[in-house]
Amino acid sequence: MASEQELRKTKANSEHVLLLPFMAQGHLIPTLALAKILDQRTPHTITILNTPLNIQRLRSSLPPNTTIQLSKLPFNPTDHGLPPSSENTDSLPPHLILPFIRASESFQPHLHRLLSSLCSAGCRPLCIISDEFMSWSVDSAREFGIFHSVFNTGGAYGSAIFFSVWTHLPYKNNTTIHTAQDDEDEEFPLPDFPETTLRRSQLSESPRSVEEDDPWAVLFRKHLSFIERSDGMILNTVEELETKGMRHLRSKNRWGRVWAIGPLIRPPSPLPIVETNCIEWLNQHPPASVVYISFGSQNTINLSQMMEMGKGLEASGKPFIWVIRPPTGFDLNDEFRAEEWLPEGLEERIAARKQGVLVKKWAPQMEILGHESTGAFLSHCGWNSVLESLSCGVPIIGWPMGAEQPFNSKLLEEELGVGVEMARWSKAEIRADEVARVVGVVMDGVSEKGGEMRRKAKQIAEVIRGALVEEEGRKGSSIRAIEDFIQTALSNRRIDGCFKTH
Ligand SMILES: *[C@@H]1O[C@H](CO)[C@@H](O)[C@H](O)[C@H]1NC(C)=O
Ligand SMILES: *[C@@H]1O[C@H](CO)[C@@H](O)[C@H](O)[C@H]1NC(C)=O
Ligand SMILES: *[C@@H]1O[C@H](CO)[C@@H](O)[C@H](O)[C@H]1NC(C)=O
Ligand SMILES: *[C@@H]1O[C@H](CO)[C@@H](O)[C@H](O)[C@H]1NC(C)=O
Repeated sequence: MASEQELRKTKANSEHVLLLPFMAQGHLIPTLALAKILDQRTPHTITILNTPLNIQRLRSSLPPNTTIQLSKLPFNPTDHGLPPSSENTDSLPPHLILPFIRASESFQPHLHRLLSSLCSAGCRPLCIISDEFMSWSVDSAREFGIFHSVFNTGGAYGSAIFFSVWTHLPYKNNTTIHTAQDDEDEEFPLPDFPETTLRRSQLSESPRSVEEDDPWAVLFRKHLSFIERSDGMILNTVEELETKGMRHLRSKNRWGRVWAIGPLIRPPSPLPIVETNCIEWLNQHPPASVVYISFGSQNTINLSQMMEMGKGLEASGKPFIWVIRPPTGFDLNDEFRAEEWLPEGLEERIAARKQGVLVKKWAPQMEILGHESTGAFLSHCGWNSVLESLSCGVPIIGWPMGAEQPFNSKLLEEELGVGVEMARWSKAEIRADEVARVVGVVMDGVSEKGGEMRRKAKQIAEVIRGALVEEEGRKGSSIRAIEDFIQTALSNRRIDGCFKTH
């Protein structure tokens, strides 16, 4: 258990900034990136709170002389009906994710005790930056008079639409959403942001059909109410990339101040890449010729979809790197059985022709996206993947599976012009000829569409790169946002003079 003795001040005369990330790789990675930036750019002591296993992992990705503090919060998964040592979503099957999110509220008394001991020692933290999924922490922050900001690991546009959709449930009997003729392409204005319209088909099955007491709906509503009580929201994005989404979020004044502080992405690995031959393989291909396919660390597709993808990619004639996992219904940690799960002889044919590589476990995604031979990313449009791809100037072929991913895909295609949606939802009917067609359009760098997408993606990469740069007196937008965030927290703080170093 962390105590104020353990929470050393690593920087003299500094106040603590406490970071409370959710226990999933897709949330821990951007939080760590945020911690590093805050540590470099502010005089404050940055402390990340989490469960012992996640703290151990975070420690291994920080240099030994880091000034970032890591502090353990106790967590007993079995108290919540979870398997022992479930401390991260990456070890959980999908049906245990919801109980796991709920279980994270058991940190509350521990956080309370920590804040209480810090405050009574005269060391009130400057602020708490809490993951959206840990937004219950706003109550503890309020109690101790500490500035509180939510950290949203998604983008502004996707989040704004997601919040709007889940705020206006239920849609079950809503005739705007369901019509007699069921015209799925018809657009309707979003209730909170009428300048943005959504097609009926872009509203996923679950918000369309759930009752108000659906467990996910209840959870999201609860999160939304915590978020509305927070002082503000930090997003992992870039202001210039998401002017519309940022405008939406600010227009409601419901989420306090909103800061775009990104891109917070995984740095290219400092370790030599031993696991795959991807990079060497990419070196043998011409610039922008290879399609990279990955649906994120927690997703897979079903057997029929996998068969059609295999046929379609082969038929496209384009070289590809495919990060592939056992299909839905099989244990994701099983050995991959290509002879059962892929079209007959596919793996041998693509290897013989140097057309494709199947990566069975982990791929060095940033290194692949950053390689000049990579020409497009076929992705589930999770926000971290989107930012990584755009940071490397790589256009996206979208197959959003759930959550706010279809809205990210909409941003890429309709607002930024750097994406084409190939399919939507994990239940999508995938056809090989459609896969081959879409891959052909995007990879054809001389066609009007493919070429235009590539040009725009390169421009966006420049915009993203500029956000965290400071040179010749010019500060990038994300740096200005960090400064404004800290200023805002400082001007809201209650001073009880804790400038003794322990
Ligand atoms: C930690 O060590 C590295 C490499 O020796 C050095 O570049 C860096 O400045 C050090 N950081 C701190 C905070 O001392
Ligand atoms: C929707 O309509 C059904 C049947 O007409 C009705 O039983 C139900 O209460 C309605 N639900 C809501 C949320 O209005
Ligand atoms: C139906 O949904 C639309 C779009 O979200 C909303 O504008 C409208 O107010 C809803 N109607 C009812 C009766 O809830
Ligand atoms: C995969 O999903 C598609 C679309 O929902 C469905 O038509 C197909 O039957 C599923 N295949 C398997 C093997 O589950």
